[in-house]
Amino acid sequence: MLDDQATLADSCQTSVQGGVDLRRTAANPDYWYPLAWSDELKAGQIIGRRFAGDPIALYRGASGKVFALEDRCAHRQVPLHLGVVTGDALKCHYHGWAYDCSGKCTDVPYLGKERRPNGVRSYPAREIDGLIFIFPGRPELAEARLPASLGSAQRRDYKTRRLNREVACHYTFMHENLFDMNHQFMHRKQMGSIRASCLGRKHGDGWAQVEYSFSRTEGKSSVGERVIVDLMRTRGDEHQDFRDHMQIRTDYPAQSLKVWVGRNIQETQDPVLDVWLCYTPLDAQQRTNRTFGYLSVKKPPIPGLIHLAWPFVVWFTENIFREDKEIVEYEQRAHDAQGSDWNNEVFPPLRDLREVLARCGVPF
Ligand code: FES
Ligand SMILES: [Fe+2]
Repeated sequence: MLDDQATLADSCQTSVQGGVDLRRTAANPDYWYPLAWSDELKAGQIIGRRFAGDPIALYRGASGKVFALEDRCAHRQVPLHLGVVTGDALKCHYHGWAYDCSGKCTDVPYLGKERRPNGVRSYPAREIDGLIFIFPGRPELAEARLPASLGSAQRRDYKTRRLNREVACHYTFMHENLFDMNHQFMHRKQMGSIRASCLGRKHGDGWAQVEYSFSRTEGKSSVGERVIVDLMRTRGDEHQDFRDHMQIRTDYPAQSLKVWVGRNIQETQDPVLDVWLCYTPLDAQQRTNRTFGYLSVKKPPIPGLIHLAWPFVVWFTENIFREDKEIVEYEQRAHDAQGSDWNNEVFPPLRDLREVLARCGVPF
């Protein structure tokens, strides 16, 4: 079990993030960040997105490959995403300057070859499990840092829904909110009274992990919650000696949440719930993020049951995420009003996480 109250207080005194204001810590650009869903971009299409204030044009060439260029024509600075795709190249909407997928200017229709200007910046771009990622940092680091897969989103024995919303807060509030299951109190209307017990914590250079079990202190579970958890128990399990078990982990810059129930308790076994999340900062001050994620539920043994129950799962998770979005936006407003991070964090796993986020991020 978790350290007692005295240890909590001690660790609170001794562990500070070196005076770093976490909300003035930029997301480290030397990682991959999702900017769009693969199916938002058909061959020949272009969309304009942002990473931390930088405009980026994503387009899918005739070859089916996705490319990312700075979304600003080198000529008169208009957005390239207004332009047209020709083959694997892009033509600006205004005067038709052409850029290849590396951003090099390959044609100015009214000038000779010898007078071609410089092009625009390009970013490594890659599709993984239905999401389009870009690497905004040093391109030589890109290949080694590519995520392998995004939870269980591609598995047929799971049913998966997308998580996709803009939240007006710094990305670090998102990490902390998910990591900290002591806020179940806020979800009392959705889940009744639940008490989280911390089972342990671990952390390393670029990651932090916390594990919990839960007990109900009052009220009943909602239908959506029961679908995710209770349906996975086989008959008779309630007489076994088992505990539900949740693991939340930040592997900078992404985050995951997994739940095992009943006999399915070993981490080597499939979790019943597998959530993957990444928070892409949108504006230059990184006061807004777009959350991209997948929520995957292991299909219960009764065929078709998951589809019947799915609307409840969606309803339940939407309510939970709406409450989380509201509260982290309040946290951001408090930071804006106070001008610095006044948070008084007392929970050691959260302090681990804050240190990882401070260490991996880049001060503004
Ligand atoms: S502004 Fe893009 S070609 Fe002129
Ligand atoms: Fe929450």
